[in-house]
Amino acid sequence: MCGIVAGVSTRNIVPILVEGLKRLEYRGYDSCGVAVHQDGALRRTRSTARVAELQEQIASDHVHSGTGIAHTRWATHGAPAVHNAHPHFSGPLEPEAATSPAARGARIALVHNGIIENHDELRDELEAKGFRFESQTDTEVIAHLVNHLYDGDLFDAVQRAVTRLKGAYAIAVFCRDEPHRVIGARAGSPLVLGIGNGENFLASDAMALAGVTDQIVYLEEGDVVDVQLGKHWINGLHADGSTKTVLREVRTVHAHTGAAELGPYRHYMQKEIFEQPRAIGDTLDGINGISPELFGDGAYGAFKDVDQVLILACGTSYYAGSVARYWLESIAKIPTSIEVASEYRYRDSVPNPRTLVVTISQSGETADTLSALKHARGLGMTHTLTVCNVQTSAMVRECRFNFITRAGAEIGVASTKAFTTQLVGLFVLTLALAQVRGHLDDDAEAAHLKALRHLPAAVQAVLALEPQIMAWSDEFATKENALFLGRGLHYPIALEGALKLKEISYIHAEAYPAGELKHGPLALVTSAMPVVTVAPNDALLEKLKSNMQEVRARGGELFVFADADSRIESDVGLNVIRMPEHYGVLSPILHVVTLQLLAYHTACARGTDVDKPRNLAKSVTVE
Ligand code: M6R
Repeated sequence: MCGIVAGVSTRNIVPILVEGLKRLEYRGYDSCGVAVHQDGALRRTRSTARVAELQEQIASDHVHSGTGIAHTRWATHGAPAVHNAHPHFSGPLEPEAATSPAARGARIALVHNGIIENHDELRDELEAKGFRFESQTDTEVIAHLVNHLYDGDLFDAVQRAVTRLKGAYAIAVFCRDEPHRVIGARAGSPLVLGIGNGENFLASDAMALAGVTDQIVYLEEGDVVDVQLGKHWINGLHADGSTKTVLREVRTVHAHTGAAELGPYRHYMQKEIFEQPRAIGDTLDGINGISPELFGDGAYGAFKDVDQVLILACGTSYYAGSVARYWLESIAKIPTSIEVASEYRYRDSVPNPRTLVVTISQSGETADTLSALKHARGLGMTHTLTVCNVQTSAMVRECRFNFITRAGAEIGVASTKAFTTQLVGLFVLTLALAQVRGHLDDDAEAAHLKALRHLPAAVQAVLALEPQIMAWSDEFATKENALFLGRGLHYPIALEGALKLKEISYIHAEAYPAGELKHGPLALVTSAMPVVTVAPNDALLEKLKSNMQEVRARGGELFVFADADSRIESDVGLNVIRMPEHYGVLSPILHVVTLQLLAYHTACARGTDVDKPRNLAKSVTVE
């Protein structure tokens, strides 16, 4: 995680660095900082507050420069404290306060995204050479290492330093003695080069540079890039370990800024929940019939060749995949397994080259999912497809086929519209595989398309339940635990509802398939335990009703989202909100919206930072 922006220009780039950091806060917001070359010295400003506050500090410190680096942090090694905030300096530092304008003796300034696995060993080695460490971070070793290896040429020092690093990194570094030069390097963490008019930049994401330049180079594994005024060059790493100058493709990238007006909403999460009818409509735009080619040229051949699906994802995207598993097996009749990406990559599995490997990711940059994809490919499974919300992401570049969801920038850390649009993409994938496998006739295709097209209106009707859900949230806000129950297709929706509640309200919430209740979790049920139940009118409804009775008999209080025709009525200990309509196999897309609203309003009632919940980041780019 963490976000990097850096650049070299003849104009003052501090406003560009700060604006870039604001756009990269989705990568972490534990602390932030900027370092520049000013008046012949390195100056830095760091803060554990948000970038908006850093901006005020910078203004009062009169920080300005044509060369600088900036960082927003998601803490891995070392607590979120000013002394652990990046940029890190190497050199004989003067004692400084948090907002100190200068550390005149420092020679090297460095920002880093990733994790250096051999930092302890390097720290011992550098301490023995006399370097003094000020932080608990793994990053500071890189700054001292570069300083130690520096002999008048920063590019050479960085090239030599990275050969000593084990782990993942994207870095940007500059030197007091070379005022118009920033060096970047990447392995395992993303870094782009932005080529401007006489000025050049580095960033973790092209979005940070939107409005500054649209000429973007996606740096590759092992690249070291020399960024100067009006020129740049890249040294690439070859398979034999040697490096030499390489030309990388320059792409025109129309990155959005990620900036979005809140309009009448209190938080981006609320806005994004209410955007779902539009997001689903946009995702379906242009789909007038089902065809494998919706996923890219050549998809028909690949779909014909596969005899199983393996889904790899994390968090909310994993739950989208868990719903899709039901669809793929029941509609497309294709054996499907799903794995948490961070588990899959480290276990011995039995590869089948006739597998369609499907990754699901909002950001397209999730390190665990990217690594799992590469692991699967390394095992010989080359039919790869991603359902992803970011066209320019590493995930889309790495996969042979893709389906781009059109949710638009999702800013709230808790994923909402990305989830429902992922489900739409996965349902279209289910239909395409069903078609190729001979399980989708024209009538079925037309019926499914009709249901898909009606989804925006159906979701809109669910959003109208907000006042009723708000009434429940006041009671939820007083609780410290909650259980979520679902069955079948809706068990992953219960999981997603519990995840939403815990990540933004900090209430401990767990989800179970309702039939599992009596195998243990029932012991937790008392009158203090709210039990949220997702109750669609499907084949499992009567079984679910029995499970609900088990809760009531123990004094538990049920909060049930029931389909209109489910014959579940409110009673003592049984609160019911009625869904507008039963939606068949697409019902999870409606039911999850109620759980998003419940989590959102409960978090508001508890006064948490809904869009930036503690300890989390929007994009999880470290293992
Ligand atoms: O960008 P991705 O979809 O790959 O992210 C996966 C998870 O990190 C993400 O869904 C996370 O669980 C969200 N905070 C859930 O709201």
